[in-house]
Amino acid sequence: MNQQGDNKVSNKTNSISFNEVCEARFSRRGFVKAGFATTAALATSQLIGCGSDGSSKVQVTENKWREENPYKSRYDFKEIEHGGDEYHHVAPDHEAAILIRWGDALFKDSPEFDPNTQTAKSQLKQFGYNNDYIGYLKLEPMRGQQARALLCVNHEYAIPGLMFPGFPEDGFKNITKEQVQITQAAVGNSIVEVGLKDGEWSVNTRSKYNRRISALDTEIEITGPVRGSSRMKTSSDKRGKTVVGTLNNCAGGMTPWGTYLTCEENFNDHFLGEVADNHPEAENHDRYNVGTNYTNWGLHDQRFDVTKEPNEPNRFGWVVEIDPLDPESTPKKRTALGRFKHEGGECIVAKSGQLVVYMGDDQRFEYLYKFVSKDKVNLDSPRANRDLLDEGTLYVAKFLEDGYLEWMPLVHDNGPLQAAFDSQADILIEARRAADLLGATPLDRPEDVVPNKHNGKVYAMLTNNTKRQDPNPANPRTENYFGHIIEISELDGDFASNTGYWDILVKCGNPQVPSHQADWNTETSKNGWFASPDNAVVDPDGRLWVTTDQGGKAFMSGTNDGLWALETDGALRGTGKMFFRVPNGAEMCGPIFSDDGETLFLAVQHPGDHGRIGEVRVETATTRWPDFNENMPPRPSIVTIRKRNGGKVG
Ligand code: FEO
Ligand code: CA
Ligand code: CA
Ligand code: CA
Repeated sequence: MNQQGDNKVSNKTNSISFNEVCEARFSRRGFVKAGFATTAALATSQLIGCGSDGSSKVQVTENKWREENPYKSRYDFKEIEHGGDEYHHVAPDHEAAILIRWGDALFKDSPEFDPNTQTAKSQLKQFGYNNDYIGYLKLEPMRGQQARALLCVNHEYAIPGLMFPGFPEDGFKNITKEQVQITQAAVGNSIVEVGLKDGEWSVNTRSKYNRRISALDTEIEITGPVRGSSRMKTSSDKRGKTVVGTLNNCAGGMTPWGTYLTCEENFNDHFLGEVADNHPEAENHDRYNVGTNYTNWGLHDQRFDVTKEPNEPNRFGWVVEIDPLDPESTPKKRTALGRFKHEGGECIVAKSGQLVVYMGDDQRFEYLYKFVSKDKVNLDSPRANRDLLDEGTLYVAKFLEDGYLEWMPLVHDNGPLQAAFDSQADILIEARRAADLLGATPLDRPEDVVPNKHNGKVYAMLTNNTKRQDPNPANPRTENYFGHIIEISELDGDFASNTGYWDILVKCGNPQVPSHQADWNTETSKNGWFASPDNAVVDPDGRLWVTTDQGGKAFMSGTNDGLWALETDGALRGTGKMFFRVPNGAEMCGPIFSDDGETLFLAVQHPGDHGRIGEVRVETATTRWPDFNENMPPRPSIVTIRKRNGGKVG
């Protein structure tokens, strides 16, 4: 989401003020660059990683190639140009095809999509709205197929003005009960089986795996330390152990045992009203901006009215684990991973065998977290990892001015936390306040955080922060309109380590405009730079790809959002290259590659969007992509990209 909800900064703690910052920073930076070859080789030799296929293997080929070819690009495509129009654009020699659109059938009995006669019941049988994260789970191909997989797709949030033709301006103030239920049904997740035949991907509506999970009617179990907490109890769940629905599912991750992590981000936008200042949850609600109420669900669904259900907001803002191979399974909110505005949850197995999940809290001046499981991942038996995410340690990051990084455990006996909280459950519910007390580093809106098993690094997308007035080394610009990317190297290449070091990979914006203070490799072309990095993916060959979400700031870059390749190693480190561009109004989400690297799946979110959520209209949408039919609203859709003559994408 383009974060209309974070205009109000809710972190009132003083961000750390650094002295002598730049000097220390740049000497460190010089060292890191000079030491590149050694550190990369060291990290790789000690590293065990896990792919989306669940494989665990030491990958050394890529870095050997890089060491032998320090000046060559890792990418082989002709880049496209910055710009903006109603259409999508992909690099030459690649074919982009629409795989599935909002409203398309997921089941053999799904009703045909008709924007004028939508019901919640029909939406629950159709692909949801605003596709964001895409997870790829490989299946054995059926006869005649080249490939087969389950796509695990997030549907982040609804936009009534772009969903309902004729929806009045500020119509959400008087939104009907049926419209509320349609929007609740349209968010959550889709699990959908897809197959590749004769070079084309299609949806199998007869698959036993296809499933819709929504905010309307899916029962979800609360597991881990917060299960049963008095602060999770509501009038409909007196035990605090189950919750209906998941929402604002932004990015996510796939575990090495084949489950799907879907992350609840701007949950606060769904809550109406506020509790009295002396209410025990008042401070907590304030810290999470509860009550922004962009959806007005509380008008017809009392659990989203905090004056009636003050604990309901505590039941959102979690990471949810879903088993896509068991459509009857109950999804689980894994509370050990903390409650905040989770962007994503990308996983990697540390050399100890423990699972590490990297997570950003996407709001201005919020923090970067990682979870390290107590037990080891069992790659031989997926079922053995069933409750692995219920026990472990949640850490928050402190970026030190000398380029070092400290991961501080959010555990009850750690320093000030014992006196400030009654229990570990309270720490996890109010992870932000706990992180404040430990002096975590407030960042410029952390989005995806992606480990790369091929070079041992972790890439954190910091999308922007126009409110920053006090720069520091990890957030080096005031009024940061364009965002930056931080590269983390865990100590000894150990992802479970509680120390590491960091560097800035790129400072986004136009390197030709001095006021942007952008920093790219000078090989970057006039189309190769970008602004507001959001999602990222490492492809099967270890190459990094970054998507953007500029929101209302696209006019500053002169280009619609898109997907860029970004060199991370060798002499071209920090060189961007534009691969795909979305139609007007859209945001680029969900990049994921098939395991062979021959297909790239992309999520085009909110095409045609043109303003604040209460103002946008189907009738004035800036594109009718992908149907270009005046009777059809623009439709968020998943796009597949393959190379025309075969081979790896990009
Ligand atoms: Fe939903 Fe942080 O983007
Ligand atoms: Ca989004
Ligand atoms: Ca975003
Ligand atoms: Ca995002």
